[in-house]
Amino acid sequence: MTVLIVGSLNTDILVRVRQAPQPGETVLGDDAQIAPGGKGANQAVAAARAGASVAFCGAVGHDSFAPVPREALAAAGVDLTHLRELDVPSGVALITISDDGENSITVASGANARLSAADLPADFSGVTHLLMQQEIPEATVLAAARRARAAGAQVMLNAAPARELPDELWLLLDLLIVNEHELAQLAGGPEHQEEAAARSLLARGVGTVIVTLGGRGSLAVTPDQVLEQPAHKIEVLDTTGAGDTFCGVLAAWLAGGVGLADALKAANVAGALACTKLGAQAAMPTGEEIKAALKS
Ligand code: RIB
Ligand code: NA
Repeated sequence: MTVLIVGSLNTDILVRVRQAPQPGETVLGDDAQIAPGGKGANQAVAAARAGASVAFCGAVGHDSFAPVPREALAAAGVDLTHLRELDVPSGVALITISDDGENSITVASGANARLSAADLPADFSGVTHLLMQQEIPEATVLAAARRARAAGAQVMLNAAPARELPDELWLLLDLLIVNEHELAQLAGGPEHQEEAAARSLLARGVGTVIVTLGGRGSLAVTPDQVLEQPAHKIEVLDTTGAGDTFCGVLAAWLAGGVGLADALKAANVAGALACTKLGAQAAMPTGEEIKAALKS
């Protein structure tokens, strides 16, 4: 029942501003905050907090940034046996958060871009669910998907940030999670026909497509069913990490043996709760908090 996450870890430098700067513009914001981040690490922390047994494979550098995401993973109880230390800079993300809670992010990939197939665990036999994102090289994602499939694990990809997927990867994916923008980019269609766009991705070989819709909730499309979840209403402070919390909790619930509909409900609520504090990991809920919110 182990969730393996192969992905990025970053140190996030967050600044709240009135409005994100336009090209060529300088804006003044609040004090900077340093926080653990990286889509891979965020999803690992979310899954572990939700109660799953989680192992993480990723790469940090030797510099002073490395301990920030590493210690957060360790504190959440994530197995770091497969965390590599490379002689390059650690990943850093520069994040501005505007008044409406929306963010813009620039990632300096550093060690994340050097995570190779050789860094993957030698043995995938204990893994039931593999969850990945796209802040590491495509070749590494593909290699991990092949090994997980061969070991009989479910293969889940959060295609964030969006990039075209190799044909073989589509066929290896049990579950793809995208937001509206990533969906439009991958499907090449208009952003508001999500169900049709998701179906066009099913035709490429993935088993289930899940779309996170921000303030409109989320949607799961399989060849024979469509599940919809309305948004869980909260006061939005910072959406950073909401998608990651959704993905981590979805994997945790599926690994716990519940069906897609219940896992979608839990992920949907958890993603909303994650928006209530500044930073990606600060407001990620525990399993108990998710259950309480599901009843409210
Ligand atoms: O999804 C949010 C994350 O994206 C941040 O933590 C940042 O590090 C970037 O990877
Ligand atoms: Na947040």
